[in-house]
Amino acid sequence: RHFLKTTSVLLAGLVLAACGKQEPAAPAATAPAATPPAAAVKVYVVGTDAAYAPFESQNEKGEIVGFDIDVVKAAAQKAGIEVKFVNTPWEGIFNSVAQGDRDLLVSAITITPERKQTLDFSAPYFDAQQLIAVKSDSKIARFDDLKKLKVGVQNGTTGDEVITKLQGKDSPNVKRFESTPLALKEMEGGGVDAVVADNGVVVHYVANNPGSKFKTIADSTFAAEQYGIAVKKGNAELLEKINKGLAGIREDGTYTKIYTQYFGAPPAAAPAPA
Ligand code: ARG
Repeated sequence: RHFLKTTSVLLAGLVLAACGKQEPAAPAATAPAATPPAAAVKVYVVGTDAAYAPFESQNEKGEIVGFDIDVVKAAAQKAGIEVKFVNTPWEGIFNSVAQGDRDLLVSAITITPERKQTLDFSAPYFDAQQLIAVKSDSKIARFDDLKKLKVGVQNGTTGDEVITKLQGKDSPNVKRFESTPLALKEMEGGGVDAVVADNGVVVHYVANNPGSKFKTIADSTFAAEQYGIAVKKGNAELLEKINKGLAGIREDGTYTKIYTQYFGAPPAAAPAPA
């Protein structure tokens, strides 16, 4: 009995000693990650060409802000997913999602039959149309007047498509820029006679750059366009989440709130399904 007791005490002591050895504040280098695996939430990377105010732009702090950003943030929250925005040049933006560098694209992207062949789009979240910007003293009155004039567009946009259709594929008078602000800047110096781009962006630019002395010209021949959020073709799971989120922020009034904040009045109606 005595022997057993001694052994137990000895064993207990050994166990304690062993524990004691591991006790000193676990060195950070060898310690397992403090956060349990459950906290490692997937963060979806959203690509956006942040030179397209008021939809997406960079503020003084370098943060990506705008209507599109607020819509996606709110929709993601509704859908219970995490997102982060990465500035992505328009040139190559569609490839970035095809290659898996981006999970989502929000960039005032018009849903077109051609783009639908390589990308999947959410339900439309914004109605748009092309709009012409010209110098205030310009005689240009309608889109057709641009047939033989120098016109600036952002390369590969729907603005590029309409002017290319009007002037012909090989027209030397279509000047294609990396961004829409660059095309508008070019007009200030007289390098182009007009710029064709999305109405929201043109209106915003003209209002915020009074020194440029531009005016806008609407033309009823421009087709109605709708913006959608893009995912890699076949990514039905993520698309469903985004669509649920978009539907959710429409139902609870968040969408109208964001819209009114950026455009001064609530939307006329929800965009019809594309
Ligand atoms: N809506 C137009 C298009 O899809 C222009 C979009 C440009 N967007 C941007 N962030 N630069 O072609």
